[in-house]
Amino acid sequence: MSLTLEFQLNGSQAAALVDEAATLQTVLRAELGLTSPKRGCLQGTCGTCTVLVDGAPYLSCLMLAQDVAGRAVQTLEGLKQGAELSPLQRAFMEHFAAQCGFCTPGMLMAASALLHQTPKPTREQVVDAISGNICRYTGYAPIISAVLAAAAGDNN
Ligand code: FES
Repeated sequence: MSLTLEFQLNGSQAAALVDEAATLQTVLRAELGLTSPKRGCLQGTCGTCTVLVDGAPYLSCLMLAQDVAGRAVQTLEGLKQGAELSPLQRAFMEHFAAQCGFCTPGMLMAASALLHQTPKPTREQVVDAISGNICRYTGYAPIISAVLAAAAGDNN
């Protein structure tokens, strides 16, 4: 059965006709054209599909789209500030925190949620915040450095 889903997406009202069993990831990618929530494991273990719902990180591959009705969803596409990259995105670039880039959208969203909740996190808090996001290539150190640099305002 289909239903009309209305929610806020990256600061604007969005609506889509969705199957009641559709995941948020499917709706974002296939119906709304936002491809930053990557199709990784599709089982909730890799984190590359992470988006924010009401400011908290969620795995969009496991969440039913209908569960965001009336709520605010943010994807990587909504992270930049106007035409500019956000300080967190710039920090990732400056610290070489992406290699193949497949995990990067999920990493950025998990880190963004952390910095909203805890603007000056410790290294341990950064590690904990991205612990559900798997990266095969960077060794995590540059990602952690980037998040800490963004928190310190080193690249503002
Ligand atoms: Fe959602 Fe891996 S694709 S956790």
